[in-house]
Amino acid sequence: MTATTLETTVHPAVAGGLVLEVTNVSIQTPSITSITFGDPLGEALPPYVPGSHLVVQYGAGANAYSLTGSGSAPFEYTISVLRVEGSAGGSLAMHGLAVGDRVHVSRPRSAFAPAANAKHHLLIAAGIGITPVLSHARFAAEWGAAASLIYCYRPGEGAHVAEARELLGEGLTECHNRGSFQEVLTEKLTTQKLGTHLYVCGPAAFMDSVLEQARDLGWPKGLLHSEAFGAADLDEGQPFAVNLARSGIRLEVPAGVSLLDTLEKAGKTIPNMCRKGICGECVLPVLRGTPHHRDLYLSDQEKAENTTMMCCVSRSLDEELELDL
Ligand code: FES
Repeated sequence: MTATTLETTVHPAVAGGLVLEVTNVSIQTPSITSITFGDPLGEALPPYVPGSHLVVQYGAGANAYSLTGSGSAPFEYTISVLRVEGSAGGSLAMHGLAVGDRVHVSRPRSAFAPAANAKHHLLIAAGIGITPVLSHARFAAEWGAAASLIYCYRPGEGAHVAEARELLGEGLTECHNRGSFQEVLTEKLTTQKLGTHLYVCGPAAFMDSVLEQARDLGWPKGLLHSEAFGAADLDEGQPFAVNLARSGIRLEVPAGVSLLDTLEKAGKTIPNMCRKGICGECVLPVLRGTPHHRDLYLSDQEKAENTTMMCCVSRSLDEELELDL
């Protein structure tokens, strides 16, 4: 590995953040590597809520990665990154980091926090989706909270498996194929005690399926939590329409085209920087309809309120949204 030089131009998504040094790099699987960052002087780092993410700058870009620690009194931040060949999302740059490299990072941000009043935390992860869920599992073990995890991964491609076993013991169920996962999921979704909250992270289709099944079985929306990957991994989504209330314009947003692109094409100037759902610049006020939030900027509560949305990555759960624009 070659040393990475600290960028002199700070990306807007990490402005006001920290300069940290890579203190450890460890191989989790042939395609997943963990990178640990620390303060160059060994000082304590800002604590964070379980399930938080860190935006890391690479070259002129920046991307968000889930933190795997519990967040309590940290002296280090660790992320685990899946290598995606040909990706423009930064995974190759993260895999190229070496001990001693310095990078600009944001302060940790939370968008997937555990519910304080949960009687039990049912964690569900697929593949690299284990990272924020592991943070929840560590937090639960530290604070004596009840938690269990269904972890779906291909044999030989499971990251953090040993830690998950140690943290959760019999509370961990490992699945290696769709059939066994579905069997376990159905059983878990139908046998949870009242007050259980569900948290899911993995590929979009996996999360959609889990959430849909939970809703079909009567789980209230407020008990369901999901964490999308960075925008580089988002699917193209469904088409929808937007009514711009102040402009009196109706626009169609096709699948695979962002709302931001659609608005710009219609001549609207929308402030934006990262176009990945991480900087918060492209926020728009929502008057009617339910956005499909896919950003990593709004908090869980802000997402639940559905009064704002990040138009670079978020879409609509309804056929139509009305925006104050
Ligand atoms: S442009 Fe950064 S969140 Fe949309």
